[in-house]
Amino acid sequence: MKKRILTGITTTGTPHIGNYLGAIKPALNHAENYDESYYFLADYHAIIKNSDSKEVSDSVKNVALAWLASGLDTNKSYFYRQSDVPEILELSWILNCVTAKGLMNRSHAYKAATEANSSDEDKGITMGLFSYPVLMAADILMFNATHVPVGADQIQHLEMTRDIAARFNHIYKKTFELPEAIIQSKKDTVPGIDGQKMSKSYGNIIPLLSSEKQLKKSIAKIITNSLEPGDPKDPSTCTVFKLYKYFASDELIKEFENDYKEGIGWGDAKNKLFNIVNNEMLPIREKFMSLESDKKLLNDLLYEGSKKVRPIAQQMLASIRDSIGIKNIS
Ligand code: TRP
Repeated sequence: MKKRILTGITTTGTPHIGNYLGAIKPALNHAENYDESYYFLADYHAIIKNSDSKEVSDSVKNVALAWLASGLDTNKSYFYRQSDVPEILELSWILNCVTAKGLMNRSHAYKAATEANSSDEDKGITMGLFSYPVLMAADILMFNATHVPVGADQIQHLEMTRDIAARFNHIYKKTFELPEAIIQSKKDTVPGIDGQKMSKSYGNIIPLLSSEKQLKKSIAKIITNSLEPGDPKDPSTCTVFKLYKYFASDELIKEFENDYKEGIGWGDAKNKLFNIVNNEMLPIREKFMSLESDKKLLNDLLYEGSKKVRPIAQQMLASIRDSIGIKNIS
């Protein structure tokens, strides 16, 4: 059986170093161990929480550029916008019809939203939010992905996908593989400049697609403590050190640890961090600039991506429609 890995990226905001280290880089590295890899921009997921059309379209562009600049090779993988494969939405409806409402009631994301409400528990909750795990199942099952890398918050959705797939297989015929989650460990949470998890909502991000000057500025803002140069410092609780570890070899990490013991000043420590991050960013920045300068290129890549992937979806959907009794007419 072919091993297929599939990664969905909800297009909200502009990617930061936390997304790069926590999602983009691991997903690109994983791809080497699979026969096929699928990366898609989940723009129909984006509209669940965002009705600002400009933000949605800007984000699709920025997220796509970030993945491509970081090394996603469209010749070796499928890269597409969810919205360019309308068959996914058709499958989503079909799956809705085999999904127990009770299963969706138990979704953490939906429960958290209802619990945050006081008198009317359904206030502000759309059917999109409620049934979003079904759309996610359609994203995955459409291509019979065997492996899906997810953060801890998405494990339940993968379990739901397996449930939904098994139910369809049981009612009709064996159609879907039950996908496995590749779970990102919690320990790998990338800290932002204030030491909390890096997140746009905490205002503590280091942008991914930034100039050298911007990068330097962001790193200068990392919160440390008031220990003076010459004072021994503890690397294990230090944001500068934690970030450095993501970019450095074991040997360099050891050296940096030693610098801390010997009382490296914060200015020097941050300089070391800047240099190593910047080194990794150089080719990414260059690729980003070349993608940005050719206005048509991104559009063309996405168009080609949809042309490559749609026939697979069409074939799968035709067989599913046949299974459920909606026969082809011509
Ligand atoms: N819901 C995922 C998230 O918020 C994104 C996503 C959408 C996804 N469809 C997917 C992830 C399918 C994996 C597989 O992170």
